[in-house]
Amino acid sequence: MLPRPATSAPAGATRTFRLKVAPGRSRLISAPYGETETWSYNGMVPGPEIRVGQGDRLRIVVDNGLPEETTVHWHGLRIPNAMDGVPHLNQPPIRPGERFVYEFEVPDAGTFWYHPHTRSNVQVERGLSGALVVEEPEPIRVDRELVWVIDDWRLDRSAAISADFDNPHDMSHAGRLGNTVTVNGRVPEDIAVRAGERVRVRIVNAANARILGLEFGGHEPWVVALDGQPTAPHRPADDTVVIGPAGRADVVLDMTGARGTRAVVVDRFYPDFAYELMGFVYDDTPLRTNSPDWPMELAANPVPEPDLASAIRHEVILNGGMMGAMVMAEMGGSMGEQSAGGMMGMMEMMRGRGIWFINGKASTGHVMDPMLIFERNRSHVVEMTNATAFHHPMHLHGHSFRVVSRNGVAAPIPEWRDTVLMAPREKIEIAFVADNPGDWMFHCHVLEHQAAGMMGVVRVA
Ligand code: C2O
Ligand code: CU
Repeated sequence: MLPRPATSAPAGATRTFRLKVAPGRSRLISAPYGETETWSYNGMVPGPEIRVGQGDRLRIVVDNGLPEETTVHWHGLRIPNAMDGVPHLNQPPIRPGERFVYEFEVPDAGTFWYHPHTRSNVQVERGLSGALVVEEPEPIRVDRELVWVIDDWRLDRSAAISADFDNPHDMSHAGRLGNTVTVNGRVPEDIAVRAGERVRVRIVNAANARILGLEFGGHEPWVVALDGQPTAPHRPADDTVVIGPAGRADVVLDMTGARGTRAVVVDRFYPDFAYELMGFVYDDTPLRTNSPDWPMELAANPVPEPDLASAIRHEVILNGGMMGAMVMAEMGGSMGEQSAGGMMGMMEMMRGRGIWFINGKASTGHVMDPMLIFERNRSHVVEMTNATAFHHPMHLHGHSFRVVSRNGVAAPIPEWRDTVLMAPREKIEIAFVADNPGDWMFHCHVLEHQAAGMMGVVRVA
């Protein structure tokens, strides 16, 4: 059983944290590689784990020591609009040298995370992200809990972050995919385990664009929560846990290997580029001979259940990207005559106007006009169609929503999300009660897609 940390105050207490945002150096990868210049919270990559109890009140004092504006967004937390951290929409940006104090109560237990919402594709990529864990009043019983903040970096030979953040190819294709994957800010080493041990892993995908498809070396992954929200414990297809950018999964693993063996955790989402993430190494002394039979089901959070029969329906269509642009080029006369090199020039030119569109609109500045209006305290169904050739993890701020169907097939188990990964051409229906008033961001969490237009504002009023 995981004891509450000694620093925990009784439930409902105010907990104060400080985050100093500043440039620094981090060791992401062992020698012979050098350290990497990063941007960090309190000098750490990822930032410090913020761990509180359900119902606690958080007070987080943020000091901006960066050479540019920043904000902090508390991804997945259903908190008041003014604390949501989107500059110009929820608050003024925090300028260099300035301080902003966030204060809110956490209604839901679960695995969440925090990151800037200012030039996110650059600031998150430079290292700004951290886990925010809200403990259940009665956690499920495990022997050990691990938190993995997984990030993906594009490093050059000196381990410096490659500065091509606005690379038009990344923006118009699958986003910025890196060449180095870290767990908690380090290329991971093996983890020692004991047979019979039960482990809960809270996985956060903090990458700008990389989708994870984790296979646990023959161990059965039991998914008990998605995006922080409890779900019926289940094994995913192919025993592979798929987590899009910004998504989270809480996975229970029973260590069933034989003493002295090594089991390898593999990311095989892109099958041609599967790689070994780390190993579980069994030591010689089993903890127990059989796996424990402790229940895994987490208590539900107080998320209101939408009423599908009376829900108001809305439509969202995602468009754009490279294949879209190519079609345009074929049809577009003079554009069609451009060489492949000219294509990059064209993407560059289009960037100002946006490469990706939600309902025909690309937003590249400070978006303010709501694209959808959700009547407050009513149930809503949004039918989303991905008419592009790429994946998009679509994130709605301020609410968790239920995934009702995928390509017309009802979701087999209740799945609450704040970010839903949409495959190319996929159609997904989501439903939620619009109970959190204000103007909220709705965007793709491939941060290059967001920067190239795939975002908008929705209003709950
Ligand atoms: Cu994780 Cu709008 O963000
Ligand atoms: Cu996208």
